[in-house]
Amino acid sequence: MVDSKEIIKKEKEFIVPAYGKKPIVIVEGKDTIVNDADGNEYIDCLSGISVTNAGHCPDRLVRAGQEQMAKLIHCSGVYHNIPATLLAEKIAGITPSPLTKSFFVNSGAEAVEGAVKIAKKFAVTQGRTGAGVIALEGSFHGRLGLSLTLTGQAKYKKGFGTFANFPGVAHAPMPYCYRCPLSFPDCDIECARKVKDIIKYHTTADVAAMIVEPVMGEGGIIVPPKEYHDLVQKICKDHNVLYIADEVQTGFGRTGKMFGIEHFDIKPDILTMAKGLGAGMPIGGYVTTSEIADSLVSGDHFSTFGGNPVSCAVAAENIDYLQEEGLISNSEKIGNQVRKRITELQNQISLIGEVRGKGLMIGVELVKDKKAKTPAPDETTELAKRFMKKGVLVGTGGVLGNVIRFQPPLCITTEQATKVLDIFEEEVKQL
Ligand SMILES: Cc1ncc(COP(=O)(O)O)c(C=O)c1O
Repeated sequence: MVDSKEIIKKEKEFIVPAYGKKPIVIVEGKDTIVNDADGNEYIDCLSGISVTNAGHCPDRLVRAGQEQMAKLIHCSGVYHNIPATLLAEKIAGITPSPLTKSFFVNSGAEAVEGAVKIAKKFAVTQGRTGAGVIALEGSFHGRLGLSLTLTGQAKYKKGFGTFANFPGVAHAPMPYCYRCPLSFPDCDIECARKVKDIIKYHTTADVAAMIVEPVMGEGGIIVPPKEYHDLVQKICKDHNVLYIADEVQTGFGRTGKMFGIEHFDIKPDILTMAKGLGAGMPIGGYVTTSEIADSLVSGDHFSTFGGNPVSCAVAAENIDYLQEEGLISNSEKIGNQVRKRITELQNQISLIGEVRGKGLMIGVELVKDKKAKTPAPDETTELAKRFMKKGVLVGTGGVLGNVIRFQPPLCITTEQATKVLDIFEEEVKQL
């Protein structure tokens, strides 16, 4: 048996401490369950941050990876490659019709940066500069240079100066209805209307793209009204701004549909993906229209590992698996059950400010005082700790650090969800 204390000690010695870690060593996973090195079992309600949508190590995906590995592990982007081509064809089949051409990378941040890069090149091919890019306050798009700049939360940027502050990036207000002084629909979607002002007052009037998460993930599982997305899309179109839907977190069944855009009838020019695409294999990418794709010429962009045959073979199998096993409809079904029960509890428990989400992308915002909506970040951290002690892994997040995140594998059963909710009810009542 692995000595977990020894591993944690070694990790401290040999791994760069870029982020805080929970005090467990995960060694195995099957479907919704993961096991740690000390023999404890957990219901995974975070899916490695929304990655193992298909569940941990499903036999069919493991086989697809093993078979491809035995044939060819790597060939690099300078050669034609079968799994990448077949995956791109599959993605063209599940995304809205003008989106047909994909580019594969290895992570969400790379997908986002690649998407913005091609949007800028597209603007240049139209005789523009494409100098501007708009993102949302409270958004999360990654932690590299440009993606960190796009991320609309100072807590991720602190200490990184110009690395987190690329020129040309402006931020528009987030559609955070729960904390907005106005109320929907009387607000006339002021936050969406503001995008026009941002273009007018905060850019050089030549904006290549606006990037939006259909449901904001790290920002606190924030679901904008459909009208918000409608209006932002219209403003983008009117100003010749490409609309990038960042589906890195919402994609591949997470929200109860294949993509988050389907809830809102969003028709993006570019769609980014990662996380749930590869079922745990490292892969990201974007898909766009032929016209935009053709603005890149040979040598404009490259990734050594992008389109890795093993990652692509697993991802292609994963797309079939999610559909054929009914996991996307299970995401919708269980997600509805979970939100319904927490909404019922909301009336009895003062700590629950709001429950929101789509499918199995669920956030519960905790507040000390329902009327004043005073955020309860300490209680949020404490609740996540208590969950772990009782054998459930949940996430925490939100711009104010007071959102409990339930994002389990989409194969979670009603029995497992009920067990999680029973623990939630007991612990949240005690808190
Ligand atoms: C919407 C969104 N975009 C981009 C990213 C960055 O992905 P990665 O961590 O793979 O770089 C994330 C990660 O949480 C995300 O949620």
